[in-house]
Amino acid sequence: MNMTEPAAPHDEDVIVVNHPLVQHKLTLMRERDTSTGAFRHLARELSLLIGYEAMRDLPLEPVEIETPLEPMQARRLAGKKLCLISILRAGNGILDGLLDLVPSARIGHVGLYRDPETLEPVEYYLKLPDDVGNRICLVVDPMLATGHSAVAAIDRLKQAGCTRMVFVCLLASPEGVACLRKAHPDVRIVTCAIDRGLDEHGYIRPGLGDAGDRLFGTK
Ligand code: URA
Repeated sequence: MNMTEPAAPHDEDVIVVNHPLVQHKLTLMRERDTSTGAFRHLARELSLLIGYEAMRDLPLEPVEIETPLEPMQARRLAGKKLCLISILRAGNGILDGLLDLVPSARIGHVGLYRDPETLEPVEYYLKLPDDVGNRICLVVDPMLATGHSAVAAIDRLKQAGCTRMVFVCLLASPEGVACLRKAHPDVRIVTCAIDRGLDEHGYIRPGLGDAGDRLFGTK
């Protein structure tokens, strides 16, 4: 069974993870009455599942090992190491699942808030590992809505020397996907679903509401 499919014909760098477990858990996250604890737990599980897909192209190298029975040439992750970069604050809600997969990954943070009038991102925080330019970066934010924050974060990360990035989100809008693909066609997008579109407040519809508020129990 094919668990993933490109979102649009001719764009193999927009990956929608159509695995039944992913879709089931996303549905639970969308539901209005899902509690904060359950929402957080589902975000962790989903990020692990789509992280698996986002890391599909990581390079491997041969390594000589000994099993209890005989020596063998096995494979391990090669060369470039990983950095997970959270777009604050909601990005933090999907770090843990990814860290379950790659516990030694370095972590960076980009703080951007959305100006409520213009919906444009404003940077207020940036902290990255010194060698971020030598790492494969997974840039994470649960929601790819207008795409403005993702584009601004990736602009900034490129300035800081990042050359290889994948954008990982739980839910995207068609507008956000188009915006990010246009600004950064070299950055693959991995998501659980692409919804109908944005409303006048920049929320994804039907969506799952405000991911940050639902993750952290704020309003
Ligand atoms: N951010 C969210 O948390 N939800 C949306 O629908 C859009 C942006």
